[in-house]
Amino acid sequence: MTTRLRCESCTHELNELDTATGCPKCGGLLSLENDTPADRNGALRATFDQRLTPVAAKGVGDIVRSGVWRFRELVLPSIADQDIVTQWEGNTPMLHRARVADWAGISEVWLKHEGHNPTGSFKDRGMTVAVSNARRIGARAVSCASTGNTSASLAAYAALAEIPAIVFVPEGQIALGKLAQTLAYGARTLMVRGDFDACLRLAREASEKLGVYLVNSINPFRIAGQTTIVLDLLQQRGWKAPDWIVVSAGNLGNTAAFGVALRQARQLGLIDSSPRLAAVQAEGAAPFAQSFRSGFAKRETVHAETVATAIKIGDPASYERGVRAIRENDGVVLDVPDAEILEAKAVIDASGVGCEPASAASLAGVRRLARDGTIGKGESVVAVLTGHILKDPGILIDFHKDAKERMANPPIEIDATTEAVARVIESTGRGPRQ
Ligand code: F0G
Repeated sequence: MTTRLRCESCTHELNELDTATGCPKCGGLLSLENDTPADRNGALRATFDQRLTPVAAKGVGDIVRSGVWRFRELVLPSIADQDIVTQWEGNTPMLHRARVADWAGISEVWLKHEGHNPTGSFKDRGMTVAVSNARRIGARAVSCASTGNTSASLAAYAALAEIPAIVFVPEGQIALGKLAQTLAYGARTLMVRGDFDACLRLAREASEKLGVYLVNSINPFRIAGQTTIVLDLLQQRGWKAPDWIVVSAGNLGNTAAFGVALRQARQLGLIDSSPRLAAVQAEGAAPFAQSFRSGFAKRETVHAETVATAIKIGDPASYERGVRAIRENDGVVLDVPDAEILEAKAVIDASGVGCEPASAASLAGVRRLARDGTIGKGESVVAVLTGHILKDPGILIDFHKDAKERMANPPIEIDATTEAVARVIESTGRGPRQ
């Protein structure tokens, strides 16, 4: 099995072991091109399905229990087992909650919860592949710029691979849980006085000059891993595609990966019908949505502002790939105000599912698309939740202490007496559940 790196702009080809994360000829983005697997259609589906059954054996059996490496023929077939750095990422649940469906106005809305990954976000799916490749090529160190989740994931996988990691995060703009994880897993953490876009510029420059392997989502191995979000959800649905897949969008790595996954799934006959794709941005960080509105006539950039710090990005690196994904999948791009993101999040949280703010943009987007009739009432939708509720505890506490928020559930301070408890129960008009 062989794999090549190919420039998406000028088609220049590189060996898969090349450390470049951009085309050396034209600066374009690189993508991974694997040999087509021997099996297609039902036979390929059967290969993937059979790996879902528990395997007692160690070794190979363990690797394909990962929700990424289960699809290894489509991800990176050329890598040797001993180079794979995995902690059984993926295999995330797909959940349905009546309360969430009511709020969105679509009865068949499913939540694909990527917050159930080992470090609490979808980033682990790309990181297992990028760090495995780092091990394979003998990288002396790995690095990334991040709004927090990529850095947490890289820190964990680099620790697992025993490769030093260095991360660039925007000072004062990353959620507490993510910063805490990044420090705890042991990455060298540089707090850059600037925004994410400045961090990415710096990370790209520094890694080129200092020979450090960059694993931001411009890295094609990251994209290959993230395609498995779609493969996994299609498999969970018995390879029956939903009408829509909806995802929040910042740097556009995921949007791009979803485009690649759907192209592969169609070409290999894994699915008979294809879903439409919707990418949702925060109103104050919506360069991609702006470009979409002009039919992608111009690549827009903005100075980003939003409570959803994960997607606070003004100049998305995977722009061209994102455009291709939207065009190929009859897609739409929209933006939603912060207030709707927080309301969607409160509904998801109160349903017992929970997610971080950026994740909830997807559900806020579903409601908008349902209201304007783009998504039909009877259509099926999978909204991807990209990160775990505990990623951003600060925003949760602020929300629930805010008396103006309709769904706020503020903590109540009491004396340590049963009378005080009784008063609370009476004043809320309902006793504890039997
Ligand atoms: N949701 C969450 C929770 C994220 O962390 C990110 C990106 C996105 C959505 C957007 O995904 O960039 O592929 O369009 N977080 C990156 C990071 C930028 O550094 O953790 P995208």
